[in-house]
Amino acid sequence: MQAGATPLTATAVIAAAGSGERLGAGGPKAFVELAGRPLLAHSLEAIAAARRISAVVVAAPAGAGLERAQALLGDYPTLEGTVVAGGPSRAESVALALEQVRTELVLVHDAARPLAPPALWDAVVERLERDPELAAVIAAAPVTDTIKSAEPGTQMVTGTVPREGLWGAQTPQGFRVAALRSAQAAARAQGRLAEATDEARLIEDAGERVGLEPGPAGNIKVTTTDDLLVAAALLGG
Ligand code: CTP
Ligand code: MG
Repeated sequence: MQAGATPLTATAVIAAAGSGERLGAGGPKAFVELAGRPLLAHSLEAIAAARRISAVVVAAPAGAGLERAQALLGDYPTLEGTVVAGGPSRAESVALALEQVRTELVLVHDAARPLAPPALWDAVVERLERDPELAAVIAAAPVTDTIKSAEPGTQMVTGTVPREGLWGAQTPQGFRVAALRSAQAAARAQGRLAEATDEARLIEDAGERVGLEPGPAGNIKVTTTDDLLVAAALLGG
């Protein structure tokens, strides 16, 4: 931020409407417990502790999920909280939540990433403030595995992808709200919104600039029960 400039205000959008099929816990992943608290509560805790986020919109599973998400928000009275029903894909859940955002900046986050630290949320906001050329700033970590390409469906290697310059995208991903809304509208008009696995992709397709903010390797995505065990170990439990 420039000296004397008014800080931009930021809202967190949490995509929490998935069914958690691969985790196989018999219910939505956002409410599966990690160290005694639902995954969603871990993200709310970090957002409440971040200095630069004033509001949160949760895209929750329709039905009982709406009330459960609302009840969790009640534990964080300093955050202005809203719950909406999610859509049929992650990207559509985010678009529905974005309709409720009233700030200049939005940070989109997956409830499946319970370990994003408060400092990372603030770093994304501050980078967007420092660099007006960027439409988006995403948390990401350099790739450490050797990456192979393969012929789809064959399990046969076709080559090794040079690792230099490859980053694994994480969340939170921060955006200027106007830029994200227009990138979503363009993708929807072309029928490619549902297939976007993150929002930064939409900004890239719109030809706008996306910055990388290094996130910790521990900011893992919980997909399977193994991931839940790793997350518990990282929390020291
Ligand atoms: N998500 C969402 N709306 C959807 C689908 C997914 O808000 N229609 C959210 C999930 O709740 C999750 C994030 O997007 O926080 C990333 O999705 P993923 O890890 O695939 O979670 P699930 O879709 O719940 O899991 P699975 O694919 O195993 O069913
Ligand atoms: Mg999914």
